[in-house]
Amino acid sequence: MSSPETKSPVLILGAASDIGRAIARRYAETGRPLVLAARDPERLEPDAADLRLRFGVAVELRAFDVLDITGHPAFVNGLEPVPGTVVCTVGLLGDQAAAERDPAALELIVATNFTGPGVALGLLADRMAAAGGGTVIGIGSVAGDRGRASNYIYGAAKAGLAAFLSGLRNRLYAKEVHVVTVKPGFVRTRMTEGMALPALLTAEPDEVARAVMRAETRRQDVVYVRSVWRLVMAVIRMLPEPVFKRTRL
Ligand SMILES: NC(=O)c1ccc[n+]([C@@H]2O[C@H](COP(=O)([O-])OP(=O)(O)OC[C@H]3O[C@@H](n4cnc5c(N)ncnc54)[C@H](OP(=O)(O)O)[C@@H]3O)[C@@H](O)[C@H]2O)c1
Repeated sequence: MSSPETKSPVLILGAASDIGRAIARRYAETGRPLVLAARDPERLEPDAADLRLRFGVAVELRAFDVLDITGHPAFVNGLEPVPGTVVCTVGLLGDQAAAERDPAALELIVATNFTGPGVALGLLADRMAAAGGGTVIGIGSVAGDRGRASNYIYGAAKAGLAAFLSGLRNRLYAKEVHVVTVKPGFVRTRMTEGMALPALLTAEPDEVARAVMRAETRRQDVVYVRSVWRLVMAVIRMLPEPVFKRTRL
């Protein structure tokens, strides 16, 4: 038997992402209605039709640009009913070298991975709190655990998101809003296309989807999709700075 919350809608921000599509499918399997939000929602029509047919769930499509932060209050307040779960899969790896030279490129990475998701998830969390509770899930990154030469601008933005989610979790704990930070490690998606990824450290989008659902059910706070990453990052974090700065990790 399902409680009212388990049948409340799941909102996915960045629903056209490879990880977002896998998450949508897993939630649809459980009978949860979906609100899929993306920059170009029309692209999601075939997915939505497939999910409705296959799992008999309601699927609503919404336009959402994470950079339009002044539009976020209207977007959030326009959601009826209030979602029981929101998962933000919006992200931009960007070009580290370009962002070192071009402040606008840096700003785009920070706004897409930190400012935009933070504003949207904060507003959604407050709406959930007013409605009696819910679950907020942000997709962070192990890149946020320690700044490395190869991707520290993306990493800094994801570190900012992780700190934001930690504070949100702390602020809304007593209001029944559960906040999860998911750190996927490498995932085989459009974002990592063409990269040589080590098999042991690389998850499929569906593994991320299962980790997201498990985290919601078990009320976990910070999740590494493959547990080996928790160990890898613990070792990397422990390296003293005089040693770490000489490495090429
Ligand atoms: N792949 C990995 O190895 C990996 C590892 C750690 C964390 N992550 C995180 O996982 C999440 C999903 O990434 P993915 O791997 O599935 O890659 P992806 O398919 O490239 O997904 C990124 C999504 O972000 C959306 N997006 C970018 N800018 C946006 C904007 N201004 N407004 C709204 N949406 C915007 C993109 O929308 P469009 O579809 O319109 O382009 C795309 O759907 C991201 O947060 C990423 O940082 C990925």
